[in-house]
Amino acid sequence: MEQGQLNGLKVWFDDFVAGCYCDDEFVNANLKLKEDHSRRVCDETAHLVDELGLSDGQKIIAETIALLHDVGRFAQFIRYRTYNDPKSVNHSKLSVEVLREAGVLDGIDERERKLIEAAIRYHGEKALPEDLDEQSLFYCKLIRDADKLDVFYVAAKYYRQYRDDPENCKLELEFPDNGKYCPEMVESVFKHRLIDYGELRTLDDMRLLQLGWVYDVNFTATFKRIRQQKFLEEIAGFLPSDEKIEKIKEKVFGYIDSMIARGG
Ligand SMILES: [Fe+2]
Repeated sequence: MEQGQLNGLKVWFDDFVAGCYCDDEFVNANLKLKEDHSRRVCDETAHLVDELGLSDGQKIIAETIALLHDVGRFAQFIRYRTYNDPKSVNHSKLSVEVLREAGVLDGIDERERKLIEAAIRYHGEKALPEDLDEQSLFYCKLIRDADKLDVFYVAAKYYRQYRDDPENCKLELEFPDNGKYCPEMVESVFKHRLIDYGELRTLDDMRLLQLGWVYDVNFTATFKRIRQQKFLEEIAGFLPSDEKIEKIKEKVFGYIDSMIARGG
């Protein structure tokens, strides 16, 4: 791929997103969230790519994946008014379908197109399939890390907004913020077991799921970025402070620091 092709995809993305907005304020506020998310994931990807010292060619593929990874989110919200995959549709799969239907990646070399599609297809899955080739696996890992970095930013901001002004929070609140969490979620984080979205019942369950994501982070550069940005600390700060939660925080942040120390 060349830079010119990525520039063309940026134009397509802008047009595509502009065409999704409608006269429903609730839908638009949620779509804007994903538009901004996609753009910030591009920035996070550019940061990781620099830290990892990738070639220009690899950088273009990585940025293409970042730009397009969530295009399925727009159709998902318009159709179902939720971003909850188990309650609607697998948005990673839908992203690939949207791109194929519109022929967006048609002009791209087949080998590169397959890498892009694989990374988009699996970016939101709980775990990656075991039979991925080395290159597909690398780009899958990269988008999953960049995506998580921005989800930490968005979640921290969202929890802050909701705490400060719940009445005017236009975004969809999936779960009750009732200060309760499922003890099994804490167990899962302790045991490094990734939590399924279908298991979530409260906003604190969601926060625990987000803490547990650190065990699915792939690159030292990402761990460093998490510590630098401090959004995960902020998310953890919204959890009730009891003994179990304090222990889990210690464990999660201890793990991040150990991974940074190990990576050099
Ligand atoms: Fe996604």
